[in-house]
Amino acid sequence: MTAISKTEKQTTLSGIQPSGKLHIGNYLGALRQFPELQSNYDAYFMIADEHSLTEDYEPADKPAQILDVVAWFLAAGLNPRSSKIFLQSFVPEHAELTWIFSCVTPIGELERMTQYKDKASRQTKNVNAGLFIYPILQAADILLYKPLIVPIGEDQTQHLEFTRMIARRFNRRFGETFPEPRPRYTTVPRLMSFNDPLKKMSKSWPGGCIFLEDSPMVIAEKISRAVTDTSPTPGEMSPGVKNLFLLLKEFSDAATIKHFEKAHADGSIRYSNLKTALAKDIAKNLAPFQKKYVTLIKQPKKLMAVLKSGSQKARRVAQKTLTEVKQKIGLP
Ligand code: TRP
Repeated sequence: MTAISKTEKQTTLSGIQPSGKLHIGNYLGALRQFPELQSNYDAYFMIADEHSLTEDYEPADKPAQILDVVAWFLAAGLNPRSSKIFLQSFVPEHAELTWIFSCVTPIGELERMTQYKDKASRQTKNVNAGLFIYPILQAADILLYKPLIVPIGEDQTQHLEFTRMIARRFNRRFGETFPEPRPRYTTVPRLMSFNDPLKKMSKSWPGGCIFLEDSPMVIAEKISRAVTDTSPTPGEMSPGVKNLFLLLKEFSDAATIKHFEKAHADGSIRYSNLKTALAKDIAKNLAPFQKKYVTLIKQPKKLMAVLKSGSQKARRVAQKTLTEVKQKIGLP
């Protein structure tokens, strides 16, 4: 175990891919927790642009997608003076450590990854090797900074387990180097798509997904078209209704939640009322955050400067770890 003095904050690292507009799933599962992480940890917030190259994309779109994430990070309350906000590709040590880790990774471990199997089955025309070694890059992202805690959603459990496995294998083979990072689960359950509540909410189905930049009108319209059930059955909830209640619990106050729960239990609920209240509360929650975003996104130079200085800070730490790694594995 690496010793930590009591005064020193523990390290944490969180990463998000720049691959399109962020949605309320990103808000509940990540951004909302960022200010708290920033105050309690030595915190790294990474934009995983290299990971995003594994999916089909337009090169011309990428720069704006990256700056968009920086703007949302800052709008969420991150302060570039206390957090390291950085771009993966500005720290070449990530790619270099990926190679080194790939030499201690059994292929069978990669073949077990459900996200890989998933993506390979959806993106059949582009099953690239990057998709396959994606978890190795993620392990490098994490272990370069030796965090003890990694905040993740359920969907990243397997990737973090993989990272711990790499740390163990590396330590066993080359001597104690990496602490095994623990997950810190965000409590958000899976959000489902409004038009098909059996599918996960995703930017691929924009009608069923609320983007962080959506106006109150757009939010109201999307929610108004959400699939519910034809007649409410007390004690039973269709997947669509369950999804609306789930959002209500995240965005509305206790009295509103109680009101609609009671109305559902006694069968008097009108889904149109539920939808109106929910849309209003989501819009209200997002408003202050959107206001900051709108100002920030007009300042691309400032956003790039934040990314550059954060990446310099991250790189110093990454270089130190990589030097240690090279020494241990026998490279001059
Ligand atoms: N794979 C993560 C996702 O899709 C993104 C990511 C890349 C990440 N590197 C990371 C998350 C390091 C946490 C730590 O959500």
